Amino acid sequence: MKVFGGLEISAGPKEAELPPSEKKKLFTYQGVIDGIITGRIKRIAVLTGAGISTNAGIPDFRSPGSGLYSQMEKYKLPFPEAVFSIEYFLKDPRPFFTIAKGMTGKYVPTKFHYFIRLLQDKGLLLKNFTQNIDNLEGDAGVKKELLVQAHGSVAGAHCTGCGKEVDIKLMMAHIEKGEPLFCECKAPCKPDIVMFGEALPISFSMQMNDVASADLVIIAGTSLKVFPFSVLMDLAGPNTPRLVFDIKEPDKIKESKDDRNIFVPGNCEVSIEEFVHKLKLDVEFKALLAAREELRKKYEEEKKKAKI
Ligand code: OAD
Repeated sequence: MKVFGGLEISAGPKEAELPPSEKKKLFTYQGVIDGIITGRIKRIAVLTGAGISTNAGIPDFRSPGSGLYSQMEKYKLPFPEAVFSIEYFLKDPRPFFTIAKGMTGKYVPTKFHYFIRLLQDKGLLLKNFTQNIDNLEGDAGVKKELLVQAHGSVAGAHCTGCGKEVDIKLMMAHIEKGEPLFCECKAPCKPDIVMFGEALPISFSMQMNDVASADLVIIAGTSLKVFPFSVLMDLAGPNTPRLVFDIKEPDKIKESKDDRNIFVPGNCEVSIEEFVHKLKLDVEFKALLAAREELRKKYEEEKKKAKI
């Protein structure tokens, strides 16, 4: 058993390591595709971050120039991450309410979100662990029981002082206006997202060991800079390839020099279509994307009505 920052990690039964020649075949882009097509790969864990939502219009955190942390100067914070630190939020919730608006509107899920849904529909999705709070996986139809929202979500809200539940519509109205919401007890209220300095939901520690039983781990749109999410990939078994979709190779992947890592560079919206095509799942994927267009239309109609 390994212990990471108080979290107990018990990897699954020890499997015999494949001979190097087998590994060489399996730990390639084509090897993964063949593995899925032949049914050797049946259980896929998907670990995601903000980069899978940038194509929906939500900025990530650390991309130079476009990431949220590079636009924090105007808030005069002690350091950019302070906007998501509970200690700072309790002192001054205004910066959080100002920037939360851009993260919580009605966004349409991206092709990558629908790819996760496709894995679910094909019975291949073991779990999707996400750091994102936008719930776009849920909007794309990923079932609650297969989704682990490691950093919480904006589906609910509570007072940070007395713990009282807050009407989510009221919270959203405040986020929309960029105005902090205070409870009768005078403490600021916060959506149920995990800030730096807060514990992750119990659902994370309860399910993290599932990664050990994956035949494939897909990592997408995350810099892998935030603990403990960043250790999930380390739980994969010795025969488990880790396919990484990102514009920029995360430092952790680059530095590990582990032959299980297969880096697929580029915009994941584009590379995932190519991957689906190689898996010969274009027809099913197109049907899901047609459902996405319906959702887009619905949001546009709602926006029009709200303006009238
Ligand atoms: P980051 O902003 O740290 O990383 C986003 C990653 O996505 C980077 O590696 C980008 O290169 C990549 N990326 C961006 N757009 C992409 C695209 N279209 N296609 C492919 N890759 C793309 O975001 P996270 O790793 O999710 O936590 O950040 C982790 C946590 O840090 C967040 O959950 C948040 C933040 O502070 C809290 O607030 C607690």
